[in-house]
Amino acid sequence: MDGNGRWASERNLPRIAGHRAGVDAVRAVVEECARLGIGYLTLFAFSTENWKRPREEVGALMTLLDQYLKKELETLMENNIRLKSIGRISDIPAKSQQTLNEVCRHSSGNTGLTLILALSYSGRDDILQAAREWGKAVQRGEAEPDSLQAEDFSSFLSTADVPDPDLLIRTSGEMRISNFLLWQVAYTEFYVTPRLWPDFNADDLRSAIKVYQSRERRFGLTSEQLRSGER
Ligand code: IPE
Ligand code: MG
Repeated sequence: MDGNGRWASERNLPRIAGHRAGVDAVRAVVEECARLGIGYLTLFAFSTENWKRPREEVGALMTLLDQYLKKELETLMENNIRLKSIGRISDIPAKSQQTLNEVCRHSSGNTGLTLILALSYSGRDDILQAAREWGKAVQRGEAEPDSLQAEDFSSFLSTADVPDPDLLIRTSGEMRISNFLLWQVAYTEFYVTPRLWPDFNADDLRSAIKVYQSRERRFGLTSEQLRSGER
């Protein structure tokens, strides 16, 4: 979700007004995903690098997170949405951690959309953390370095129980991954839109999905192989 700051500057508003408008876009996109029957939506809400932003902006973002979670619990329950989080949750203020845990626990039995908030998240961190855990498994004699497979390693990542994303949408026109799900996006389709996040709505989401549906996902194979059903 990118472009909140630019959205605000274009209107001569403080950056935080852009973040506030961004929350409305979150609400619209989450509800549309639930309506469309999408299984998983991961929102990159805050990166480990974002802690280096001005203190007031970080504080305002944490307050917005807390308010969003409290306000949205009812909508999540009504729409059968299960909330999860990935990232260094212990970095976020204790109060927000508590709210987050409560909403996750409360919605854990929901069976529709799984909404994953990436908070204080870093793709490299995720991989490093997995490598550390895997190393410990080796030390305990539960894993064997020579036989390590990609699927084994994936099970140590924070997304162990989440399928790799089919589609990654980046708003505000930036052509970079910015330390999001590095391992998980190996074969993800990318969609970059110039639309700033606060302006991104349900129609934009459907347009992105339309484009995704027109893509040929070859996973390294040739078109001919895909057509003949060879795998
Ligand atoms: C939102 O957009 C991303 C968050 C960290 C919440 P930005 O705040 O990065 O907006 P720009 O890039 O300054 O426009
Ligand atoms: Mg940005």
